[in-house]
Amino acid sequence: MESVGVGIVGVGAFGRRHARVCAELAETRLVAACARRQKSLQPIRDGYGIHTTTDIEELVHLPDVDMVIVCTPDHAHTQAAVAAARAGKHVFVEKPMATSVADCDEMIRAARQNGVKLTVGQILRFDPRYWQAHERIVRGGLGHLVHMFARRNNPRRAAERAFGRTTPTFWLGAHDIDMFLWCARSEVKAVYAQQNTRLLAEEGGPDSVLALLTFADGTIAALETCWILPDGTPSSLDAVFEAVGTAGYLRVDASTDGLAVYGPEGVEYPRSVYSAEVAGRLMGALSEEVRYFARCILEDAPPLVSPEEGREVVRVACAIERSAAAGQPVEP
Ligand SMILES: NC(=O)c1ccc[n+]([C@@H]2O[C@H](COP(=O)([O-])OP(=O)(O)OC[C@H]3O[C@@H](n4cnc5c(N)ncnc54)[C@H](OP(=O)(O)O)[C@@H]3O)[C@@H](O)[C@H]2O)c1
Repeated sequence: MESVGVGIVGVGAFGRRHARVCAELAETRLVAACARRQKSLQPIRDGYGIHTTTDIEELVHLPDVDMVIVCTPDHAHTQAAVAAARAGKHVFVEKPMATSVADCDEMIRAARQNGVKLTVGQILRFDPRYWQAHERIVRGGLGHLVHMFARRNNPRRAAERAFGRTTPTFWLGAHDIDMFLWCARSEVKAVYAQQNTRLLAEEGGPDSVLALLTFADGTIAALETCWILPDGTPSSLDAVFEAVGTAGYLRVDASTDGLAVYGPEGVEYPRSVYSAEVAGRLMGALSEEVRYFARCILEDAPPLVSPEEGREVVRVACAIERSAAAGQPVEP
């Protein structure tokens, strides 16, 4: 196999990005796409002239499809991931892997039983800023890790398609929970979270979730997630990661990607690290994570993000949800 044939399930905002990446990378071929409605598939059919279907089983059984990228909403990853594995296709599931540990286990079981690779789109692992922070921490550059802090907040406009279907913890926090676990290399033993709902009462809330995590080795971490920043907020994401150790301190400031554009309406901070057009192609962390997994398939190597790591993120996220609902500490 010289390149990996890809079928995409879910062609919303992020699935369309994946489609373009797969059409442009040398390691992948965009073969087919699936959504619930024909209307959603029209632009993909027109843009790429590929096979489209509203039937997941049809997509996963296409002989040219070697790998399936699952880009459905957070709660709806399992059906497509399991169908793909049972059809003998490698699976890339967008983050969070699922919204329950049982769903993660079902995917892992299906992948093992059918001998296919399974990975999760924990994109921070392919963001050079977070990668370097991780390297410094695990190589002991900060001494012993004492605490970590992460913020990941969206203005409403960036998240509202997810309101009522997922939560800030799964939608946003899944990124930083993975970063915490990847850096701490220790299990989360206790979680205490609080949430508040003032603006999103009709959508089922919450507006914000704050969580404190305690790891088995004593490291502590604090996570802030919120998706109701005002739409006048000039960046579509306000994200920060900090780590304090016995011998040092580091900070990733991802609240902008470094470009500020000033105009009559104010300032705008276009994003470029995850996925941006450069010289006519999408480049950035999204392209790199898809390329990496495609190469794992071509070279029969293990993925950078194992399914067990994706599952651990979901286990911690579920504990945050349980603690926030109960208003008291819980064990994951
Ligand atoms: N890594 C990152 O930085 C990042 C960024 C954004 C999103 N994501 C993740 O990517 C995933 C997709 O997010 P999105 O924003 O693209 O979602 P979205 O815009 O809501 O699109 C969802 C797509 O999935 C299809 N779909 C919905 N429910 C389905 C179901 N039950 N079965 C099959 N297909 C279904 C929809 O089909 P119809 O259009 O026909 O309804 C639509 O094409 C989420 O898990 C999200 O957390 C990751």
